[in-house]
Order: sequence, then structure tokens, then C-alpha cells
Amino acid sequence: MNTISYGTNVILTDEERGKRHMTRLREGIRFTTQYGFIEHDEIVKVLDGGIITSSKGVRYRVLKPTYIDYVMNIKRRAQIIYPKDTAAMLMEGDIYPGLSVLEAGVGQGALSIAILRALGGRGTLTSYELREDFAGDAAGFIAEFYGDAENHDIQVRNIYEGIDGEYDRVMLDLPEPWQVVPHLETGLRQGGLLVCYLPTILQVKSCVDALREAGTFDDINSFELIKRPWKVDGRSVRPEMWTFNHSAFIITCRKVEKMMPKVKPADAQETEETDEMPDDADI
Ligand SMILES: C[S@@+](CC[C@H](N)C(=O)[O-])C[C@H]1O[C@@H](n2cnc3c(N)ncnc32)[C@H](O)[C@@H]1O
Repeated sequence: MNTISYGTNVILTDEERGKRHMTRLREGIRFTTQYGFIEHDEIVKVLDGGIITSSKGVRYRVLKPTYIDYVMNIKRRAQIIYPKDTAAMLMEGDIYPGLSVLEAGVGQGALSIAILRALGGRGTLTSYELREDFAGDAAGFIAEFYGDAENHDIQVRNIYEGIDGEYDRVMLDLPEPWQVVPHLETGLRQGGLLVCYLPTILQVKSCVDALREAGTFDDINSFELIKRPWKVDGRSVRPEMWTFNHSAFIITCRKVEKMMPKVKPADAQETEETDEMPDDADI
């Protein structure tokens, strides 16, 4: 498993200059920068983690891309969910093999890959995407890293217009998830979990209001995750000067049976104390 092969991506790291390049390996092709070239036919001979030297003597580390390498280095058309948030969404959404999961929209397909990996080939992922071009690109992007996924179905459709079928989990990364809430009455099974990803707090407010109004969602939590990198170099041990401060907010909740208001004890007392005989129909 630590061999590098044609048809897959590889990360070439120039550690001296702090540069990382991702390239797809093909026979007879050259990787070229101002620091020289390297034949792909030579890269496939190196093991994962090994070193290769360019025609100008610059040394590169050869690495198989991790999920984070892949989604952060791909040329993007849609904004992806950042890996720190993806990790939380999978855990908070309790994604495990065997579940039926519905996701919208697909965008680049970064979350799709993470869900498919968590499902481990068991269970299903259905992805609704409004734009046909995005759906097509995402299918290619997913296949390039994950391979063929027989349990994945991408459908070009608008989730605001409805959901076919019933799912164990629903994951939403689109502008107005509150428009989906009415469709969860049949689209998400009771006891199932909903996870939403939203860049602004006004969207969070609208979504949480809609969930509360529906009356069938419990355990509604809204949060954000801030990752603070630290510099650890000799005696310089401190937070990095720069921080990527905000990506998005996450809402999680659980679909439950609607709790009807309790009958007031005072009403019950009144019924007991009445002298009236009940109608036959009430006995
Ligand atoms: C931010 S991107 C999703 C990124 C994706 N989660 C990822 O990690 O790569 C939002 C996507 O939602 C799609 N979208 C927006 N409204 C939609 C709707 N009503 N139904 C389905 N997809 C929708 C957009 O076309 C876009 O591709």
C-alpha cells in the first residue's frame, strides 16, 4: 500500500521553500517547475514518503495525498467544507456503516467523499445538487480520490422542492436550509439526525427558528470550531501570528415525536367533580 502508481495523485513537497504541488501521474509525462523537471516514470519508482530530485537538483518529498491534501489542493469551483468542520459533522451526525444518508448540495464533493469513507461501502449516500455542471464535476472529483462508489447516487434536483424517500441522516450545505425543514417531515426518519453547515449567523438564526417552529426537532445545537495552530520551534513556542478565524457554523439536531402540551391538572379536576352523568357514547 505504500507504492505510488499511475492514475493516482501524488503530493510533491519542496520542504526548503515550503511549497506543495499535487499532480496526477501518467506515463511519459514530466512534472515541471522553475526548479527543474521530474519524470512521472521516475516518481512511480519511489515509495510513499520517499525523496526524488529534480533535473536542477531540488529535492522533493513524494507523498500519497491524504483526504485533507486532496480537498485542499484541488482546483475548486465551489466552496468546500473545511476538514476541521467535516470531521465534526461526521461525528456529531453519527455517520457509520449501514446508514442511509442524504446530502445537499454536492458542490465540489468534499463532504461526499468524507461520508462515503465513513459509510465504508455499506449503507447509501444520496446527493442532491441543483447545478448539472457541479454534479458532473463532483462525480469526477469523488471518483479520482475515492474510486467508484456503487452506493452513491448524485441527482440533479432542487431539494427545496422536496425529498423522495426517508433517510437516517440529512446533511445540508446550501444557502437556505430552512426551506428544507418542511420536507424533513417525511424525508428524515424519527430519531434521525440533521446537520447543517452555514457561513453566517443570520442563516443560523433563520434555520433554528424554522426547526423550533416545526416542533419535531430536539437537541438543537449551534456552534463553530476554531483551530488555533501553534508555532513550536526551539524556544519560540506560541500561537501562530496568523489564524484562519472563521469558516462556518454547524447546527445539529434530532428528529423526534412531537410533544403535545400537557393537559392541565386543573382541567382534569373539573371533570372529576362534575355531577353530570356522561353520555352513553363517552362510556
Ligand atoms: C457550498 S457548496 C457545497 C460544498 C460541498 N458541501 C463540499 O464539501 O464540496 C453549495 C452547493 O449547494 C448547491 N445548492 C444550492 N441550492 C441548492 C438546492 N436548493 N438544492 C440542491 N443543491 C443546491 C449549489 O449549487 C452548490 O453546489
